[in-house]
Amino acid sequence: MTDEACSSVCDVICIASWNADLVSRVARPLARGETLMAHSFEIQPGGKGSNAAVAAARQGAKVGVIARIGDDDFGRMALALWAREGIDTEHAEVAAHERSGVAQILVFDDGDNSIAVATGAGAGLGQANVDVASEAIRSAKVVMASNEVPQAATLAAFKLARAAGVTTILNPAPAMELPDELIALCDVLTPNESEAQTLFGKGAAAMIVTMGSQGCALWQKDKLTKTIAGRVMKVVDTIGAGDTFTGALAAAIARGESLEQAAESANAAAALSVTGRGAIAGMPTLAQSQNLINS
Ligand code: RIB
Repeated sequence: MTDEACSSVCDVICIASWNADLVSRVARPLARGETLMAHSFEIQPGGKGSNAAVAAARQGAKVGVIARIGDDDFGRMALALWAREGIDTEHAEVAAHERSGVAQILVFDDGDNSIAVATGAGAGLGQANVDVASEAIRSAKVVMASNEVPQAATLAAFKLARAAGVTTILNPAPAMELPDELIALCDVLTPNESEAQTLFGKGAAAMIVTMGSQGCALWQKDKLTKTIAGRVMKVVDTIGAGDTFTGALAAAIARGESLEQAAESANAAAALSVTGRGAIAGMPTLAQSQNLINS
């Protein structure tokens, strides 16, 4: 990590979590104390922040991550992925003697899943990582984060972004209590239906509630202003669908779409994302999601 700005100006900066996803496919959710034989096991790229960064990059945005990964094989997996996806890693810190984040994921036969995350080196992401990337934040169009990174890092980044007029997007997943100060710094929140329950009535500027196959709903100042229908897709698994929504939304806002248009774009990208295995295989390019919108 250096104190120079993003090597080229990034449209979207992601305060990113990174996990190696350890994915086992099982018939159904496990009961407490139960052992079930899995159909398969794979190690795949994940982490809500990294997933959203990849989604935004595939939608054509120049993306940079502010992240903390371990000095291990999973950390090297992140760097290789971000290089392949054209994501700027100038502000990705490789933490010596620390492990990368991992997520243990069970995918059920109906495509749904459950996830346990151990954040590893990501738990150390904080003000110092944001400070050295302050120029990249100020010159971006959108800064996004999720609840998988420490709130101190998100707060620091969103304060800088707000002061510079940069749009802020928070995916409030996994669900947790958000301080009023952070909600006030968010231009857009992208909860799913259960995460949204604790956010209604808090006066968020804009909230796009994702509803899986039912599409999404745009709320502005706690008033429903638009609903966008879902699409019938052949679901392989839903890992990363919410992250795809957030990343595609960021890319759309960065290229100048209105919030309503951007929600349409994100809705289509998220629909396509469930057609691939794991978090990123189904994430579409901009051309692919526009084809779906026009079909
Ligand atoms: O949203 C899906 C992601 O949640 C997975 O990739 C996993 O790493 C967890 O962070």
